[in-house]
Amino acid sequence: MGKLDGRIAVVTGAATGLGRGIAELYAREGADVAIVDRNGNGARAVAAGIRATGRRSLAVEADVGDEPSVEKAFATIAEELGAADILVNNAGIVTVSLLADMTTATFDEMLRIDLKSVFLCTRAALPAMRGKGYGRIINISSQIAYKGAEGMTHYAAAKAGILGFSRSLAYEVTREGITVNTICPGPLDTDMKLPSEWAARKQSELVIGRQGRVAEVAPTALLLACEDSAFYVGATFHPNGGDIMV
Ligand SMILES: NC(=O)c1ccc[n+]([C@@H]2O[C@H](COP(=O)([O-])OP(=O)(O)OC[C@H]3O[C@@H](n4cnc5c(N)ncnc54)[C@H](O)[C@@H]3O)[C@@H](O)[C@H]2O)c1
Repeated sequence: MGKLDGRIAVVTGAATGLGRGIAELYAREGADVAIVDRNGNGARAVAAGIRATGRRSLAVEADVGDEPSVEKAFATIAEELGAADILVNNAGIVTVSLLADMTTATFDEMLRIDLKSVFLCTRAALPAMRGKGYGRIINISSQIAYKGAEGMTHYAAAKAGILGFSRSLAYEVTREGITVNTICPGPLDTDMKLPSEWAARKQSELVIGRQGRVAEVAPTALLLACEDSAFYVGATFHPNGGDIMV
């Protein structure tokens, strides 16, 4: 018996990194999983790997910050896999720029991909969750939403926006059987590469003294995806190696 038997999950940004780890863990726990990513080849490879284990999995190439792309992706998923019980808003980008040097285009692109995507994907998934009277929405923010970081005003603003979004939505949907919670990881050993000087300084700040591993964060997303996590409402989880202790 898996913890997610019979569930359908959508994980964005699941071609690589944390999203991939979450998607594969969900599949091992019995869920059928849609892999949504703008990296179509990567998404198809992850979905094929999951199908090889006996679960259903669908790769959907989409830009999660683009409204028509998101609407089309969720319609395809509903038709080919079934409507989502679980949504993980994980897709994201990171760039480093001091505010004085930051262009409006850089700021806008960050907010589009790291924050507007959460709105678009959640809005697309919600009607079916309401229809079932059940849903688990898990948003991936960052400890930088709390601590801030030099060169990351745009990223921190987007990730802090996710916290307010999640808490507010929790007021709207919790009594319909849908939970909304947020995970704020610390620095992870994924493809999301930062300038090496920045990464080294950040790592030295961590109490644990090293970056986190996907396998050390994905279980938090599993906990929040399970049916018996209903009492977590608008909560924030902090697997971060001691970067902030809350
Ligand atoms: N890596 C870290 O140190 C770290 C720390 C805290 C939070 N996070 C957050 O965790 C999440 C996953 O990051 P990761 O480290 O696995 O990074 P990653 O770069 O390995 O994976 C991100 C995935 O998102 C996809 N993606 C990016 N923009 C997209 C778009 N517009 N549409 C669809 N897909 C898109 C990419 O193709 C990629 O597959 C992100 O939200 C990130 O901000 C990461």
